[in-house]
Amino acid sequence: MESATFETELSLFKYDNLEQLPERYRDLDEGERRERIEAAKAELGDDVVILGHNYQRREIVEHSDFVGDSYQLSKEAADADAKYVVFGGVTFMAESADIITDDDQSVILPSMEASCPMAGMAEALQVDAAWKEITAAAPGSEIVPITYMNSYADLKAFCAEQGGLVCTSSNAAAAFEWAFERGDKVLFLPDKHLGENTAYDLGMEDSIAEWDPWDPEGKDAAAAAEADIVLWDGYCQVHERFAAKHVADLRAERPDANVVVHPECRREVVEAADVVGSTATITETVANADPGDTWAIGTEIHLAKHLDRWHPDVEVLPLCGDACMDCNAMRQIDPNYLTWVLEELVAGRERNVVEVAPEEKELAQVALDRMLEV
Ligand code: 13P
Ligand code: SF4
Repeated sequence: MESATFETELSLFKYDNLEQLPERYRDLDEGERRERIEAAKAELGDDVVILGHNYQRREIVEHSDFVGDSYQLSKEAADADAKYVVFGGVTFMAESADIITDDDQSVILPSMEASCPMAGMAEALQVDAAWKEITAAAPGSEIVPITYMNSYADLKAFCAEQGGLVCTSSNAAAAFEWAFERGDKVLFLPDKHLGENTAYDLGMEDSIAEWDPWDPEGKDAAAAAEADIVLWDGYCQVHERFAAKHVADLRAERPDANVVVHPECRREVVEAADVVGSTATITETVANADPGDTWAIGTEIHLAKHLDRWHPDVEVLPLCGDACMDCNAMRQIDPNYLTWVLEELVAGRERNVVEVAPEEKELAQVALDRMLEV
């Protein structure tokens, strides 16, 4: 199959129409903000739905109609009837919502700077070049590309074009199974840790090759041709922070504590944990804990803080203490921005609308639809 070509530039901020916050919104205090957000929501009624990812800060989560993991939020976006979907999340999530919603619905990303660095680690241009090298080295193979949801629409379109699909952390193993029913090799992008953890889940850890697009030594097409699973060398800096030592230290100090981590963590951390799963699984694990239980959380710090607030009868600890990070991209969704975009909608103006280019949208939708069906 010929690979598709895309015009996309290498750039973290793909939507240059997204605006900065006007001066008059920069110093609102929480009380005023709360009243204004609630007033704007009441005025907009069913015309607006606010989706909040589990990593959003408290003030965004409190004003969200739905809070969840990437998969749940993409389902909510697909089912939403509202004219405006305001996305408390990062650019790739808003893009996916725009692809999944109808043409007469607008998806609004309150802040322009909410771009996941991991999504920027696999640009469609780089992937296209890698694809050509790997397919040339494996002429008899049927390679199925899978991209993690944390990627831009052009890469999702590329995967659909090549017979592949999208997955999230909650359905990666099912996506791999789908791929191996149709081909004999998977190229997984951009998160090498989720890819490796999924390979272990499927008992395929002995046939992995890595592909580092930035290092000439890290691109071994012959090794990629030999392997069943080729992992793109991307990662999330928030999750790479966790190490097996954090789990070992915790277990030494608190033998009663349980550990739940996200599959974007390194293999050594996942192996040491009691439970591994998406942010929805982490949330459910703590929600289902018995009173008095202790759970250490190996993911972005805001979710650990929410769980601590939501479940006062459970002891919730951040797995690496003060070293646990917040996600710099998620943090960009400042509640002042939320106030601004909602009040602008009340005034009849749509600000910071994310609109995926039509040439990418149709194919990216195919990749997302395949995911929603696995
Ligand atoms: P979830 O799909 O588990 O919500 O994770 C999204 C994400 O960005 C993790 O870093
Ligand atoms: Fe991206 Fe990591 Fe933030 Fe998730 S936590 S949005 S993968 S940078």
